Parts: sequence; structure tokens; C-alpha cells
Amino acid sequence: MAKIALFGATGTIGALVLREALGRGHQVTAVVRDPARLAGSPAAAGAEVVHGDVLDPHSVAAAAAGRDVVVSAVGPGAGDPGVLVTAAKSLIGGVCTLDAETPRPRVITVGGAGSLRTPEGPPVRDATGIPEAVRAVMQAHEKALDFLRTVPVEEVRWSCLSPAAQIEPGERTGTYRLALDDLVVDEDGRSHISTEDYAVALVDEIERDAHTGKRFTVGY
Ligand SMILES: NC(=O)c1ccc[n+]([C@@H]2O[C@H](COP(=O)([O-])OP(=O)(O)OC[C@H]3O[C@@H](n4cnc5c(N)ncnc54)[C@H](OP(=O)(O)O)[C@@H]3O)[C@@H](O)[C@H]2O)c1
Repeated sequence: MAKIALFGATGTIGALVLREALGRGHQVTAVVRDPARLAGSPAAAGAEVVHGDVLDPHSVAAAAAGRDVVVSAVGPGAGDPGVLVTAAKSLIGGVCTLDAETPRPRVITVGGAGSLRTPEGPPVRDATGIPEAVRAVMQAHEKALDFLRTVPVEEVRWSCLSPAAQIEPGERTGTYRLALDDLVVDEDGRSHISTEDYAVALVDEIERDAHTGKRFTVGY
């Protein structure tokens, strides 16, 4: 059983990570900007809910202390995509303030698919027809990942799980394929994953610790 601090538990992906982790018996603390949003929610039954802000390193440190893993499933919504970079820096900065003598919690972030290489070679973000707002989020995820890649795993054991190009609520099959920096594409050329199976892969990573210091991705 892992002690997990989860930022973004009210979001589409975070809510399913919360459900998957609780379902496997992990001890989850949902760190949310407005605890009232989860109060009494059946989705959060069994989780501790505390107030916190991923953009504040002090808040991250308070949430991370005594935990095995800090997961960030935060997203900018319709706001400034730059919060993804600020969040990555705050997560690492906050965890770094914790005593290194007792192992610091691992950090696992939900990334973006834009920087993944397509089978044709260029990254997803270079495709034509991507709306400007989506491209801006892709670029912010890439900057956040570039930052994480500067963090020595001796300081913080981080990993970043990029979804497939398409991720949407669907079925929990428990089956998926992983890759590192290459987009996972099925035999029909589609890159997709249900949000449920994304959550399975993320909680598997919490349990297996197989991608420390790496970005990896999941698809069918
Ligand atoms: N194919 C892809 O590459 C792909 C596809 C989908 C999503 N994603 C990425 O996956 C992540 C999650 O996406 P989603 O659709 O689940 O997002 P979402 O539904 O918009 O949820 C975003 C979450 O972030 C939280 N949040 C935002 N700012 C915060 C802060 N300062 N402190 C604490 N929590 C904060 C929100 O909490 P509040 O309730 O307080 O607002 C919410 O829980 C995003 O980074 C998104 O870009 C990637």
C-alpha cells in the first residue's frame, strides 16, 4: 500500500487515478484548491481531502511530507498553459525541501502527447491543423518535461506519463502498451487510450517504479 498525494483529483484524469488507486487499497490524499468540491463526493470516499495548491512549493511540501508518491494530474483548463511549467517546478522545488535522509516521495506527472515521435518521425505537435490553444498546451507540457529532465533522480525520483494522442473516458480493460518517447499507435494507425486504462498504467507505475527519470507513454 502506497501513501499518495494527488493533485488534480477533481479533473477528468485525476478523478480516475483517484478511483483506481483507492480501488487497489492505496492511501490517497486528494490535494485540492477547493475541498468543498470533493466533500461528500462518492468518488472521494475513502480518500483524505486537504486544501493545497500545486503552484505553491510550500503547499507541495506540506502535501508530500510522509507520502511515498506525489502525483500531479493538474491541467490549465481554459487558463494559462504556463501553469504546467510552474507546477512542475513547484512540485520538484517543494519535494526538494524535504529531508533527503528519509527517502523523498517520488513525483509522477501527467504529461502531454505533443512531444512524442510519430511513426513517421516528426513529433505529434508538428502535425498540421492542431488548434492554437491545443498547441500552446502541448508546448507547455514539453517545457515542463524539459525541466523535469534537468532534475537528477538522486534529488527527486520523477517520472512523466504522457497519454496517447487521444484519451477519453471509456472502458477499463487493464490492457495497454507502453513506450518511451514514441507515440503508441495501434494496428489501424490510431493512438488512443481510455482514461480508465491511463489510470491503470499510472497506478501500475506507482506500484512498480519502472520509469524513474523517464517520460513514458501509454496506448493500445
Ligand atoms: N493527449 C494528451 O496529451 C492529453 C489529453 C488530455 C489531457 N492531457 C493532460 O492531462 C492533464 C489532466 O487533464 P484533465 O483533462 O484531467 O484536466 P481537467 O479535467 O481540466 O482537470 C484539471 C485539474 O487540475 C487542477 N488544478 C489546476 N490548477 C491547480 C492548482 N494550482 N493546484 C491544484 N490543482 C490544480 C484542477 O483543480 P480545480 O478543481 O481546483 O480546478 C483539476 O482538478 C492536463 O495537464 C492535460 O493537459 C493530455
